[in-house]
Amino acid sequence: MTGTRPDIRDASGRPLRDLRISVTDRCNFRCTYCMPRHIFHSHYRFMPRADILSFEEVTRVAGLFASLGVKKIRITGGEPLLRRDIERLVAMLARIEGIDDISLTTNGSLLTVDKARALRDAGLRRLNVSLDALDDATFHKINDVSFPVARVLDAIDNAAAAGLSPVKVNMVVRAGLNEDDIVPMALRFRGTPHIVRFIEYMDVGSTNGWRMDDVIPAREIVARIHQVRPLRPVDPNYRGEVARRWRYLDGEGEIGIITSVTEPFCGGCGRARLSAGGSLYTCLFATGGHDLRALLRSGMNDSEILDRLRAIWGHRSDRYSQIRGERTTATRSRVEMSHIGG
Ligand code: GTP
Ligand code: 5AD
Ligand code: SF4
Ligand code: SF4
Repeated sequence: MTGTRPDIRDASGRPLRDLRISVTDRCNFRCTYCMPRHIFHSHYRFMPRADILSFEEVTRVAGLFASLGVKKIRITGGEPLLRRDIERLVAMLARIEGIDDISLTTNGSLLTVDKARALRDAGLRRLNVSLDALDDATFHKINDVSFPVARVLDAIDNAAAAGLSPVKVNMVVRAGLNEDDIVPMALRFRGTPHIVRFIEYMDVGSTNGWRMDDVIPAREIVARIHQVRPLRPVDPNYRGEVARRWRYLDGEGEIGIITSVTEPFCGGCGRARLSAGGSLYTCLFATGGHDLRALLRSGMNDSEILDRLRAIWGHRSDRYSQIRGERTTATRSRVEMSHIGG
């Protein structure tokens, strides 16, 4: 798997660059837009342990992807820190040739200083922490397990203390729910190294009952902050970056806006997603995945699996955010966010 690194392209000419790996479909939160409690009364079941890829299997898949051009890996969930010894997986991934960035997205609830240090020592480069409100009542309404804001703020401090600074703080903005926290959130992290990213609420999965009216458009989020502390747009760090960057005019830091609804960024999307159960999805909004677990466990060799991966990527034409419409939203059955980690 060493040597040349052919740059494979999908049907629209997009190279394969990032692999997002979900390591568990479980979470200790019950965010109303992701894993609402009521789904557990009906059809929803967590995946049986035997169906979840082992660290060795994940590492094998990641190595194959690296040989096809993937450079960045993001570990997600569910809540990835629920997976025991996750730092062991980080260390295994860090040894793969060609992978130069390993990051993780977490709700922060289990991020002690020791855990943050262990992750960093294993080779984790960056950490994104989700925090949807600064007001406890609002945060409780969203996470639905009465988890306090202060403990997520502690987690961000723990990450910084372990040398994982700046942290990106992800806030999913939903109209009428946490919009009053937009400006306080910006001000709370202004003047720190951390970067708050405001995320337009998306129609992912099929359990969150999304409506366009729930979305506060990116331009309005920026306008609300700009009114209080002026901002200017800045260039992306790299082509295909998910967040649009804005800096405070007075130099007190930057924010990001993720505009997947009002200004989709499918054109530069080189992201593949591996679910905890080993399904490969070529889009966040895919209706179905490709079962890699079956290939891994069938005794197939690396070059046979690589041929499959090349074929899957070569046929890819997904650009869901660019073609979304309210009708398709209501009718299509899609993969849940908790299975592919955003
Ligand atoms: P960085 O590498 O730190 O920029 O990470 P990231 O923003 O790609 O990852 P993160 O897990 O923090 O995701 C932040 C938000 O962006 C989540 O709500 C994701 O669902 C959303 N997001 C990430 N990738 C995509 C994508 O390919 N398409 C869409 N529509 N949304 C995405
Ligand atoms: N819209 C936008 N972002 C979402 N996330 C989860 N569900 C949604 C949604 N419907 C976010 C999480 C986390 C990231 C991985 O995805 O809050 O920050
Ligand atoms: Fe858990 Fe994140 Fe989903 Fe909330 S959004 S239930 S923290 S996986
Ligand atoms: Fe990529 Fe699909 Fe997101 Fe578009 S909607 S940016 S193709 S994952």
